[in-house]
Amino acid sequence: MNALLQKVYDFVDERIDLKTLEAKMMKEPIKGGSRWAYVFGSVLLFIFIMQAVTGVLLMFYYIPSADHAYASTQFIIHEVDYGWFILSYHFWGSSAMVVMVFAHMSQVFLWGAYKTPREMIWLVGLALFGIVMAFGFTGYLLPWDQRAYWATTVGVEIMDKTPVVGDFLARFLKGGPTPGQMTLSRFFVIHVMVLPGALMGLAGLHLFLFRSAGPAGPFRGTPEELKAKTDFFFPRQVWKDIVAMAAVFLTICSLALIEPVVLLEEAKPDPGDYHPEPEWYFLFLFQLLRWKIFAGEFGQFLGATAIPAAFMLLLAALPFIDRSPERNIFKRPIALLSWTVVMIGILVLTVSAIINREFLD
Ligand code: HEM
Repeated sequence: MNALLQKVYDFVDERIDLKTLEAKMMKEPIKGGSRWAYVFGSVLLFIFIMQAVTGVLLMFYYIPSADHAYASTQFIIHEVDYGWFILSYHFWGSSAMVVMVFAHMSQVFLWGAYKTPREMIWLVGLALFGIVMAFGFTGYLLPWDQRAYWATTVGVEIMDKTPVVGDFLARFLKGGPTPGQMTLSRFFVIHVMVLPGALMGLAGLHLFLFRSAGPAGPFRGTPEELKAKTDFFFPRQVWKDIVAMAAVFLTICSLALIEPVVLLEEAKPDPGDYHPEPEWYFLFLFQLLRWKIFAGEFGQFLGATAIPAAFMLLLAALPFIDRSPERNIFKRPIALLSWTVVMIGILVLTVSAIINREFLD
């Protein structure tokens, strides 16, 4: 058997030079040694692969039609063997991806890893962030229950308020005057074709750029100290990545077991007692829009579009504005303060939206 394996290895090696490939993949030097702080990017790739696997399994049963989407999702939950678990894993996996994308962004921001020569990695990363959020938004509609229907209706109405492109975007996504079959078809195609393709292409580019620039490494230590601690990607960083992936996998499985997906009533054009609400990771924005200054048409545009767009533009411009080579976060007070304010702001707004929901219920 070993001889056969060796023959297969030699056959492939002769054709694609496995040794050079292995040297490139595994022997990449990590300046300053392996760290837990570097696991988030690999964990994101792992979550995405698991989302693709569970998503394909769900597609074997799910029917993307306004007449059958709800019933087919109920069928997955109640009739298909372990269907409830696969659906719940996919549901919690999307939340895990959002949490990890925030963790990864925070790590590269606090480590100053967006600075020269890593501007392009940062910009492609921002596009990946948009894709992760768009996955959440488009996936939410697919079960076609009241929660799905009304969260999407509110989301598309908010989008409609964007000047110039808003009307086109909202009409394109809805595909008609009210959410219906065309909306579901379009969300489905975007969720299972457009976004996965875009994510795979951009993640490939992200990694290519990362490999070209090399890891930024720690923000403290002299070049001599860093050189002395430098390690290869394999085995220490690989093991840290695997342990983090296993921890995330077990957490998602536990959440799927403890809190499996339960649908509300089938979607209908009357919300009844239901108070429309987006997924938890959009709640902070939803809560912000409840503030008096964001009331009215202009206020909604300001809160839902202008401020988030300005914030994203600021993030995109960051590596070009911040030209200082200083990466130590303890010597970058504005960066540390801004990150803390944004994180506390998001946390406080999310918690107050949840408290508000308990009150409304
Ligand atoms: C689906 C989303 C993403 C995936 C799969 C991904 C994946 C990765 C991976 C595997 C690495 C290599 C090492 C590491 O983990 O630090 C990396 C590095 C990096 N990523 Fe991402 N990333 C994503 C999103 C983002 C976002 C949203 C940003 C920021 C806006 C970003 C910015 C960066 C930067 C600047 C580096 C270089 C870090 C360094 O040199 O230390 N990435 N990413």
